[in-house]
Amino acid sequence: MSGAVTLNSGFSMPLLGLGTWQSKAGEVEAAVKHAIKVGYRSIDCAAIYGNETEVGAGLAQGMKETGLWNTKHHPDDVEGACQKTLSDLGLAYLDLYLIHWPHAFRRGDDVFPKSEDGALLFETSVTPTETWLALEKLVEKGLVRSIGLSNFNSLQINDILEKGKIKPCVNQVECHPYFNQEPLRKFCEEKGIFIMAYSPLGAPQRPWATPDEPKLLEDPKLMEIAKNHGKTVAQVVLRWQIQRQVIVIPKSVNLNRIEENFSISDFTLSSENMELLASFHRADGRVVEPRVNGKSRDGHHPHYPFRDGLEF
Ligand code: A2P
Repeated sequence: MSGAVTLNSGFSMPLLGLGTWQSKAGEVEAAVKHAIKVGYRSIDCAAIYGNETEVGAGLAQGMKETGLWNTKHHPDDVEGACQKTLSDLGLAYLDLYLIHWPHAFRRGDDVFPKSEDGALLFETSVTPTETWLALEKLVEKGLVRSIGLSNFNSLQINDILEKGKIKPCVNQVECHPYFNQEPLRKFCEEKGIFIMAYSPLGAPQRPWATPDEPKLLEDPKLMEIAKNHGKTVAQVVLRWQIQRQVIVIPKSVNLNRIEENFSISDFTLSSENMELLASFHRADGRVVEPRVNGKSRDGHHPHYPFRDGLEF
């Protein structure tokens, strides 16, 4: 067990959980079952991953965090989307429910609605804060215990803090040594919000990886630190996150790696090593967004979070 933090909702949350993005439906049930057997108590999933029924089949008593998809941002759609996830997972309530992205797509059941010429159809009249106010009602109704955000920038978080009744518990963003999110982490820490790191291992399986890019898990400096501790690079980067109070959700469907990623409580990184890992941050280190020629396909949406010139 690698420890837990107390969220601003009063509930406790493990610092380490299992990620399920890119976990295939046929593999994820066994992965979730094994994770719970070896001690994981937090499972991160999302409606858009298309595997919540199988995740649900694997669940015993883990903590369940999941995300509201971009086509369900309209305040009238939020409760229905949450009910669908509850039914797919076979649960009566969720421990933590996040808005997956701040920017909304056109309402409906097509998860990537497109015009005839193939352009994504956006919904720009619903602001992220309006969706947040609908999430607050899910807490009041007892459908979810804690609520949070994913992929929100500091301006969008501030708007919610101004207008909302409930403070977000977490903001889940891409975060690893090549893209360490230190400014956003500090900002969130001041507001009592935890950063949750997705792609903590640099998402090596993502479909748009290029052969020539630096690979986090093969970084020679990280390999040396790992060797000195008798640990793997994956264990070192996960340990670095929990020591800086960042919640991590490494994805794996491999039973040995699920155990490996959980086994990070029997060593400590020195402050020198912590600083060394922090120094690996690279301006081009982001691996998930933006990703198409440096621009996300959603980049021209007015609520797209990662704007040019916006530091965090
Ligand atoms: P697999 O599911 O076969 O274990 P991220 O969480 O950053 O998106 O990374 C997930 C990717 O890293 C998956 O491809 C996963 O593959 C792989 N992975 C997970 N744990 C480890 C590990 N301990 N060592 C190497 N690769 C890992």
